[in-house]
Amino acid sequence: MTNVFPLSASEALKTRIQTREAKIGVVGMGYVGLPLSLLFSGEGFAVTGFDIDAKKVDILNGGKSYIVRISETEILAAAKNGFFATCDYSLIAGMDAIIICVPTPLNDHHEPDMSYITGTLRAMAPHVQPGKLIVLESTTYPGTTEEVVVPILEKENGRGLLAARGPEDTGLYVAFSPEREDPGNDTVARRDIPKVIGGCGPVALDLAQVIYSCIFNRTVLVSSPAVAEMTKLLENIYRCVNIALVNELKQLCLRMGIDIFEVIAAAKTKPFGFQAFYPGPGLGGHCIPIDPFYLSWKAREFDFHTRFIELAGEVNINMPYFVIEQTAAGLNEQEKSIKGSKILVLGLAYKKDIDDLRESPSLTIIELLRQRGAKVFYNDPYFPTVGHGRNYDLNMTNTPLDDLGQYDAVLISTDHSTYDYARIVNESRLVIDTRNATKGIVSKKVVHC
Ligand SMILES: NC(=O)c1ccc[n+]([C@@H]2O[C@H](COP(=O)([O-])OP(=O)(O)OC[C@H]3O[C@@H](n4cnc5c(N)ncnc54)[C@H](O)[C@@H]3O)[C@@H](O)[C@H]2O)c1
Repeated sequence: MTNVFPLSASEALKTRIQTREAKIGVVGMGYVGLPLSLLFSGEGFAVTGFDIDAKKVDILNGGKSYIVRISETEILAAAKNGFFATCDYSLIAGMDAIIICVPTPLNDHHEPDMSYITGTLRAMAPHVQPGKLIVLESTTYPGTTEEVVVPILEKENGRGLLAARGPEDTGLYVAFSPEREDPGNDTVARRDIPKVIGGCGPVALDLAQVIYSCIFNRTVLVSSPAVAEMTKLLENIYRCVNIALVNELKQLCLRMGIDIFEVIAAAKTKPFGFQAFYPGPGLGGHCIPIDPFYLSWKAREFDFHTRFIELAGEVNINMPYFVIEQTAAGLNEQEKSIKGSKILVLGLAYKKDIDDLRESPSLTIIELLRQRGAKVFYNDPYFPTVGHGRNYDLNMTNTPLDDLGQYDAVLISTDHSTYDYARIVNESRLVIDTRNATKGIVSKKVVHC
C-alpha cells in the first residue's frame, strides 16, 4: 500500500539523509571542513566542498591534498563518491544540508572577526532553499547562531524564507554544532568524539542529530545553539586557564630548583580530581589562544569582566618572552649574548607532529631573537619554507639538521617525534628545551625553560 499522506519537508529531508540521497555542502575546506567532508563521503553521501580559495579547490579537484594527515588516496576515494570542490555559491541551491566551517580569528583590536561567517552567509543566502538544514561549526561566542546566522539568512535570501524556531515544519532549519578535533591526537577516533548539537527549534535539532549520527557514534543534544556555543568555549577556556597555571608554576619551579614535569607526573597518579596539563613556550593553534577572547568580548555586553581569561592570556602571551630570557641566561653562562649568536630553532608547528603553524609561539620566539640581533635558523620537517602571515613576516627556509656544533644555541620549541634528542644534545653547544623533550638525558648543556 502506498503512503497517501505526503511527507512534511523535514520528514522528506530525514528520509533523504537516512537513504544517503541527501547532498551535503561543506563551506570552508580547511582543517575542520575537509576531514568532515571525507567522513560524510565515507558514509556514502555526495559532498560538495565550497571555498573562496580557488587554489585549494583546484588541488582537491586534482585529487591532491594540502593537509599532511589527509592523503591523496582519501581525496580520490571521496571523488569516486561524488566529492568535488567549488567556489561557486550558486551550487548551494542543490544542497540538502550545508555545514559552515570557516575561520573565526580575532581582529587587530583582539575582538571577534566575524567577517568570514557573515561573508559566507551573505554569499549563500540567495541560494538557500526552504526545507534545508544549515549548521554552523565555527567556534564563536554564545548567541551567534540566533543573533547573526539566522537574521542574515532570513534577511538576505530575498524570498521571505524564515527559520523554523518552534515546532513548525517549514522554512530553514538552523543549528550549531562545535568542532572538537584535536590535531595530531590519534588516541580517539574522530567518530568516537561525541558531537554536541543545539538547534533553533526542535525540528532543526532533530535533523542535525540525524545527519551527525551518520558519522558520529554519539550525539549530545542541548537545549539551544547558545548552550552548544558556550560548551565549546568552556572546553577551550578550561585548557587555556590550566595551561597558564602550569606555565606560571613552571617559572616558579625553575627558581626553586624543582622539575615541574616530575611534579605533574606524580600528581597525575591521583585517580580523581586532577587532569595533567603541560607547560610550554606559549599557546598556539587556531583555538586556544583565540576562542576565550570571543567570550570576553561578548561578556562586555553584560557588564561582565572575564578575569580568568584575561589572566591566563597574560601568562601565556608572556611565555615566549620568558624563553628569550632563559636563552639569554644560557648564553650568558658561556659568556655570549643573544646579539650576534647563531641560534637554531627546532620546530615551527604549534605542537608536535602536525603541519599547522597558526599562532605558533615559535614564530614569536624567532621574531624576538631576530629583534635582539641573533642570526636565526629553523628546522621543521613539516615546513620547507615559512613566509609571512597575519602576525609574522619571516621569509626563511628550512635548515638541515647537520653540523649542530656551528650554532651557539639550539632551541627546542616544538618536540616533533622525529627528532633524535640524544644526538641533538650530544652535538650541540647549548640546548634550550621548552618542552622537556630531553627528559632523561643528563647534560649541563641543557637549559630547561
Ligand atoms: N583546526 C582545528 O583544530 C579546529 C578545532 C576546533 C574548531 N575549529 C574551528 O573551526 C573553524 C574553522 O577552522 P579551520 O581550522 O578549519 O580553519 P582553516 O583556516 O583551516 O579553514 C577555513 C577555510 O575556510 C575558507 N573560507 C574562508 N572564508 C570563506 C567563505 N566566505 N566561503 C568559503 N570558504 C571560506 C578558507 O579559504 C579556508 O580554506 C574555526 O572557527 C575554528 O576556530 C578549528
